[in-house]
Amino acid sequence: MTILWDARPAAVDTYGFALGGAAEVIQAGPRESRLLEEDASHTLVVIGPDIPLASACELAERERVERPELGVILLRHRLEVTTLAQALRSGVREVVQADDQPAIAESVRRSESLTVALAGAHAAGGASEGKVVTVFSAKGGVGKTTLSVNLAVHLALSGARTLLVDLDLMFGDVAISLQLEPRGSIGDLVSMAGHLDAQGLASVTTTHAASGLHVVTAPSDPGEAERVPSPLVVELLREARTHYDYVVLDTPPSFTEHVLAALDVSDLTLLIATLDIPAIKNLRLVINTLDTLGASADSRCVVLNRSDAKVGLRADDVEAALKRPIAASVPSSLSVPASTNRGVPILLDEPRSPVSLAIRGLADAEIRSRFGEQPRTGSKRSFGLRWSKK
Ligand SMILES: Nc1ncnc2c1ncn2[C@@H]1O[C@H](COP(=O)(O)OP(=O)(O)O)[C@@H](O)[C@H]1O
Ligand SMILES: [Mg+2]
Repeated sequence: MTILWDARPAAVDTYGFALGGAAEVIQAGPRESRLLEEDASHTLVVIGPDIPLASACELAERERVERPELGVILLRHRLEVTTLAQALRSGVREVVQADDQPAIAESVRRSESLTVALAGAHAAGGASEGKVVTVFSAKGGVGKTTLSVNLAVHLALSGARTLLVDLDLMFGDVAISLQLEPRGSIGDLVSMAGHLDAQGLASVTTTHAASGLHVVTAPSDPGEAERVPSPLVVELLREARTHYDYVVLDTPPSFTEHVLAALDVSDLTLLIATLDIPAIKNLRLVINTLDTLGASADSRCVVLNRSDAKVGLRADDVEAALKRPIAASVPSSLSVPASTNRGVPILLDEPRSPVSLAIRGLADAEIRSRFGEQPRTGSKRSFGLRWSKK
């Protein structure tokens, strides 16, 4: 998320578009507002043209030591060499003319890429590796995309650095579900196979402004899918888990070579069931296949979507047929397709709806707690990742 520090509350209307739509405006400085301390998901502070240069430089200087990944962009009514020099020396990433919206947008994009790269370098320097969570089912239309998108949005909103990758390479609809205009896709990584680095990953990553979630979309041309070799998926995940706390994978409804490669490195697989016999039969086959492949049974759980559908089959029938418990249930709601059609995940569109509550519960119980994440004391919105020791 971006903080816009500006004396005028209306500044969000002036700059909102260039900032990607999701900025929190503060009139007092970030230190006074304690926003940076309380919410680790902020990655950028944009400082309005009327904030004194000295205050801006003071913030940049402090944060460059405390949080080097945080970007600071300074807007000024006029660009003067002395201002520029002083600002850049103090750690401001860029100084941009306040009325040049395209330049502001471009500078925000560059800062985001740099933040990803720096966070990666930081993670590689000893922090725990991120966790890969795959959402899978061998049947289409059961809610894989809906659940992976909303789970990833929730994780990102909770302050975890989260990447969503669309592995439905031919018919992926993550981009459209989030109304993203992708900067690139997984197809653009083909030329980097074998030497993919942080910069390469950042170059195909698009940020979902409303949540701060990062996304690698599927190619827009289905023909490109077959040019993506499966080792590239492994390389992508290896690189991604050094930069992110969570990497969530949406998948196609079959065991493609890309899915198999991903399952191999997943820390958790969420298997999506619905209350119909073909879906359950397919899920049994999936579980058998995973057993045959030697995947650990502890690292998977069954999620029942549209759990309240009145179709003559009940949750206990599913548990009996699969011989395993259902870890979480998500009810049906017409708001789900409606929000998908609007390109706004239901978690943001109707955060209090039973579907949103169920998805948050699933993320908290089966993902965040499982991996030892604990809320930091003292603040409601800030969560530090503390992985449990294996
Ligand atoms: N809990 C739910 N309640 C109502 N509709 C849902 C629910 N989950 C998914 N849907 C709808 O079902 C359709 C298929 O969902 P999708 O997530 O695209 O499935 P998949 O990715 O498995 O093919 C979409 O129109 C979606 O909006
Ligand atoms: Mg899908």
